Amino acid sequence: MRFVDIIEKKKLRLPLSKEEITFWIDGYVNGRIPDYQVSALCMAIYFQGMNEQETAWLCEAMLHSGDVVDLSMIHGVKMDKHSTGGVGDKTSLALAPIVAACGGKVAKMSGRGLGHTGGTLDKVESINGFQVVQSEEHFISQVNEIGIALIGQSKSLVPADQLLYALRDVSATVDSIPLIASSIMSKKLAAGADTILLDVKFGEGAFMREVHQAKKLAQTMIKNTKAILTDMNQPLGNAIGNALEVKEAIATLQGSGPKDFTQLCLEAGSIMLMQGNLAKDKQEAIAMCQESITSGKALEKLKQMCLYQGGDVTQIEDISKLPQAKEIIAIKAEKDAYIQQLHALSLGNLAMRLGAGRSKKEDAIDHGVGIVLNKKAGDKVSKGEVLAYVHTNQALSEAWMMDFHRAYEYSDTMIEKQPLIYEIIK
Ligand code: URA
Repeated sequence: MRFVDIIEKKKLRLPLSKEEITFWIDGYVNGRIPDYQVSALCMAIYFQGMNEQETAWLCEAMLHSGDVVDLSMIHGVKMDKHSTGGVGDKTSLALAPIVAACGGKVAKMSGRGLGHTGGTLDKVESINGFQVVQSEEHFISQVNEIGIALIGQSKSLVPADQLLYALRDVSATVDSIPLIASSIMSKKLAAGADTILLDVKFGEGAFMREVHQAKKLAQTMIKNTKAILTDMNQPLGNAIGNALEVKEAIATLQGSGPKDFTQLCLEAGSIMLMQGNLAKDKQEAIAMCQESITSGKALEKLKQMCLYQGGDVTQIEDISKLPQAKEIIAIKAEKDAYIQQLHALSLGNLAMRLGAGRSKKEDAIDHGVGIVLNKKAGDKVSKGEVLAYVHTNQALSEAWMMDFHRAYEYSDTMIEKQPLIYEIIK
């Protein structure tokens, strides 16, 4: 078999066989197929798609590129959650400790930043020493002992996704339903949880712009899972950028997080608790999540996880010890108006340009930089009021500033705020 023939076939929109897909994944993981050919195939898949059967074979081949964790020795229902990615999406950092504090066993495999979106692994690495690569034994014993672990793909766990993820990030091939679905589900199945909640984002800050595309993605992955379709037209919460999002997740676990982000954590947490039979109904589940925050138990879980994974807990206790940018620049409103739209995609890209994301595989993340929004869509602003604080290690160019202002659309009349959760798919 020649890999170039497989690329050619997909270019012509022909379905790939199971053998061809397995040849691709095996060859890539074992170093026989180079990045440039896999990039070409991903781009062909982006344009020509894959049918359900091809997507399932791809997911299976990726899953079996490494080990599958056996969590059966852990008592209780093992739960996992995954977001398809969005701007300011730090949900796992607050949600996983909340659910663990309510008695859930959260066994979670996350990803790094992709395209204009940040990634949980990059965010959590803002904490000195936090190890996202863990042996299976450590992963299992950590979930057993403290009910929570957050790891990444590795040479032994879904190595195919580790390689493809980094390649797609810098080859403009992220936003493809079969590639996203197989990437997410191979990780979720490899981590071995009993229940999965998917947070499928739609809107311009997400990979699926339209609700119907997000729904199709959710339905591609929904077997044995639940999914929520959530709005990603504007950033989630206020912070965009790695350490800034860690700080916002900590504030949320202290009860002082942004309203929209807190709502998402409570809603998603309540679904996970019900999936795991830890609450009988939504009312009880929400009350449990709220109590985990007010009692401090959820924050304690985050600290325990950090400790077990080698991280510096004092940075959670004193957030001024987290990476900081050299300069914080306040950008002010130029007129009195209502914010009609806050373009998440543009703001995500602006944060990436400050150094919060990668444009090449080998790029290092600048953990301290990013944007903190002071106003959100639907808010009224007065001339001179701060729109956002930019945390930066470089001077802001004129082009950057122009793009920043282009990310805002205004109206003279009041704007109705859109609901964050659009639909729950069972
Ligand atoms: N999250 C993932 O894990 N993979 C994708 O491809 C997109 C979002």
